[in-house]
Amino acid sequence: MTRTILGIESSCDDTAAAVVRQDDEGTVILSSVVFGQTTLHAAFGGVVPEIAARAHAEKVDHCVEQALLKANVKLRDCDAIAVTAGPGLIGGVLSGVMCAKGLAAATGFPLIGVNHLAGHALTPRLTDDVAFPYLMLLVSGGHCQFLIAHSDDRFERIGGTIDDAPGEAFDKTARLLGLPQPGGPAVERAAATGDPKRFKLPRPLLDRADCDMSFSGLKTALLRARDSVIGPDQTLKAADQADLAAGFQAAMTDVLRAKTARALDIYLALSPAEPVLAVAGGVAANMPIRHALTDLCATSGVRFVAPPLALCTDNAAMIAFAGLHRLARADFDDLSLSARPRWPLDGAAPGMLGSGKKGAKA
Ligand code: KG4
Ligand code: ZN
Repeated sequence: MTRTILGIESSCDDTAAAVVRQDDEGTVILSSVVFGQTTLHAAFGGVVPEIAARAHAEKVDHCVEQALLKANVKLRDCDAIAVTAGPGLIGGVLSGVMCAKGLAAATGFPLIGVNHLAGHALTPRLTDDVAFPYLMLLVSGGHCQFLIAHSDDRFERIGGTIDDAPGEAFDKTARLLGLPQPGGPAVERAAATGDPKRFKLPRPLLDRADCDMSFSGLKTALLRARDSVIGPDQTLKAADQADLAAGFQAAMTDVLRAKTARALDIYLALSPAEPVLAVAGGVAANMPIRHALTDLCATSGVRFVAPPLALCTDNAAMIAFAGLHRLARADFDDLSLSARPRWPLDGAAPGMLGSGKKGAKA
């Protein structure tokens, strides 16, 4: 049986649409179009929700059109419309949901409201066909959590950040050091020539036996370290910039490695037949972090899966793919589908504190 689904994503600062097809042979991404908004927000040092929402509303129709064109598929050839219904910046989520509702009303096709985090969490099944249960580490500008994926609709959250997300911390670090945005790649580049040991930065919450993380104290420590070496004209020497970047990145890497080791202990207690740690989110592009996780997995006998970066960061193919699972069991929404700023994947887990620049870390 062949099923073709249109996916729409607009929960943060990427407007995205994709067409994904599934048949007996497997699943294929026919198209995945992403319109980023980095330049629109560049001057503000973070995503401005109103600007994001307006840009989504302006671009989403065009993005859908492009995705259909690239896939060489007509809207009438689709079997359903999947859309991110949360969590995220509400204005953006609404833009996508309204577009999807319009298309569903016009075509009569089923409408499926997808949890953005489920989209990320199911991606390793799309790219690497991994078996349940697997451990997922979501590390991006807006998310940071460990999830055990038991099935396509059961995710157990076993830990996460209580304040900033790692990508947010990288972005703030870049600002403190006078490096460009997005901060992650800039900090990684600067760190390459730095001495990670020169500045003593904390490894927050490692004294707690759980998998929760905190990065706001690290940011404050970095600010103090920077102020101890900054010149009277408020400039940093290149060597100081590199050492601070390297110190921050090393602290982040140590925390993620140590907390992932704890999350693996919890996960491996389930005795999975084919143990897997999968990552998603922009921070998964960071090479030292990736190496630390690869190394940890090798010593724990766990397969490490890192989907291609374009599928690790926000995209609509993951939303379409998550929607296919719902389509298979005819689990649909109707036109009363609402956009949700917060939508925890695991309703049973205690709520997380904080809500970063990029929206709720539900
Ligand atoms: O997944 P993503 O595109 O989603 C959003 O949260 O929107 O992640 C973007 C985040 C940014 O904060 C960026 O600084 C970070 O991922 N990032 C990195 C690297 N590349 C992107 N962080 C560390 N090292 C990198 N190489
Ligand atoms: Zn995301």
